[in-house]
Amino acid sequence: MKNNQRPAPKSILLVCLGNICRSPTAEEVFRQHLAMSGLSIKVDSAGTANYHPGSKPDERSIAHAKANGYSISKLRARQVTDEDFDRFDLIMAMDEANLEELRERRALLREDGKEAGAAVVLFSKHDPMFEGTAVPDPYHGSDSDFERVIEQSESSVKAWIQRWQRS
Ligand code: 4NP
Repeated sequence: MKNNQRPAPKSILLVCLGNICRSPTAEEVFRQHLAMSGLSIKVDSAGTANYHPGSKPDERSIAHAKANGYSISKLRARQVTDEDFDRFDLIMAMDEANLEELRERRALLREDGKEAGAAVVLFSKHDPMFEGTAVPDPYHGSDSDFERVIEQSESSVKAWIQRWQRS
């Protein structure tokens, strides 16, 4: 491992607000690219809100994912749980609001003496194309917003995988 580089995590949780647009897309992009990379990492996704528990992804996300070679229609939405902060090594937030909520929740868990060892980071942290940039919420948006989710997910996922392959 090189200085300042962490080794690959064993598990990752992708988090957005509703878990029906951005995070299920990022989950499947991660899964496919990890399978090609030879890294063995468990991937899941969840939402900070409980707007759509048990729902499949938004039809627009399903269609854009499919057009780009990703099948997300079997994924089902769920809300982030306290246990996620112990079960996952790394929790990736799609935007700043998700990041802040996750960090606050982890701090509260730790104050209560609960196990909450997960690192919490912005998904785009190391992305050379979208560095430190939120994945914009496409829910009230247009086709191009859904396409942007795919483009940014691919770019950020590749950046993480390259980083772990070098470590
Ligand atoms: P996501 O998008 O956070 O990328 O899954 C949204 C999905 C649903 C809602 C907001 C954002 N909603 O308000 O229901």
